[in-house]
Amino acid sequence: MTVQPQQPKIQNNILSRIGGRNIFAIASGKGGVGKTWVAVSLAHAFALKGEKVLLIDGDLGLSNIDIQLGLTAIRDIGVVLAHNAPLNSAIIHDDTIQCDVIAGHSGSQTLAGMEENRLQLLCDDIKILANHYDKVIIDLGTGIQKSVTTLAQIAHEILVVTTDSPTSLADAYAFIKIITTAKSSSNPKILINMANTKKEGEHTYHTLLKACQTFLNITPSLAGIVHLDSMAREAVKTQTPILSINPLPQAGKDILEIAGLY
Ligand SMILES: Nc1ncnc2c1ncn2[C@@H]1O[C@H](COP(=O)(O)OP(=O)(O)OP(=O)(O)O)[C@@H](O)[C@H]1O
Ligand SMILES: [Mg+2]
Repeated sequence: MTVQPQQPKIQNNILSRIGGRNIFAIASGKGGVGKTWVAVSLAHAFALKGEKVLLIDGDLGLSNIDIQLGLTAIRDIGVVLAHNAPLNSAIIHDDTIQCDVIAGHSGSQTLAGMEENRLQLLCDDIKILANHYDKVIIDLGTGIQKSVTTLAQIAHEILVVTTDSPTSLADAYAFIKIITTAKSSSNPKILINMANTKKEGEHTYHTLLKACQTFLNITPSLAGIVHLDSMAREAVKTQTPILSINPLPQAGKDILEIAGLY
């Protein structure tokens, strides 16, 4: 892991307005469905394709990515916001997943309940930074509070992760409803995680799709299905990215398939 030298803050409102087409947000509504694992694994998959990737822990107030990667960030998003420092000064490079990373800041109420205009500035900074990358992946926090939905709206693609549990499906639906009723150009897609079989995953997708079509009049497409795989849990426990495991576990193959579509 290497720390990037501090660079002057990039200020370019035009870039800020046009940014976003390469920004992916990983969302869910409900916690524990695998958002962070999907965000880290997808970022790694894009990097393996030769792309320059920035992975951002958008779980303001409860950081997750540093834990899954075993990173110790000297500066994180919390430090940047507390000192009004440029966002790019918090970039570190993770050699294992070959991505730049901006870590979150754990245990900060202030971050989770950040003022609207500060949050907007953070969004603008992310959009400006996105111009220097092929892909930017934001791991969003759990829930549907303002800090989560505002960050989600700067993404061109929102991958809403759900499992087949009824609460997870209900929360994914609530998240999609908020995002699509807000004025946003974001495009939600559904990612089924922890599916026992592909068929069961498709069934789960169709359950959520039906609710979206009936009550929201939208047809979010399927981003992909990731199998329930004990190696995914093991990978997190041992802080080993799943795509570094040989032979590649099924959940890793699923992630590569999803990354191949972008
Ligand atoms: N496809 C999968 N198969 C088996 N276990 C998985 C799979 N995907 C994720 N997991 C496991 O589920 C657990 C929760 O994952 P993760 O922390 O990424 O969820 P999250 O949605 O980010 O949770 P939080 O709401 O706390 O941020 C982890 O132990 C992870 O390894
Ligand atoms: Mg998480």
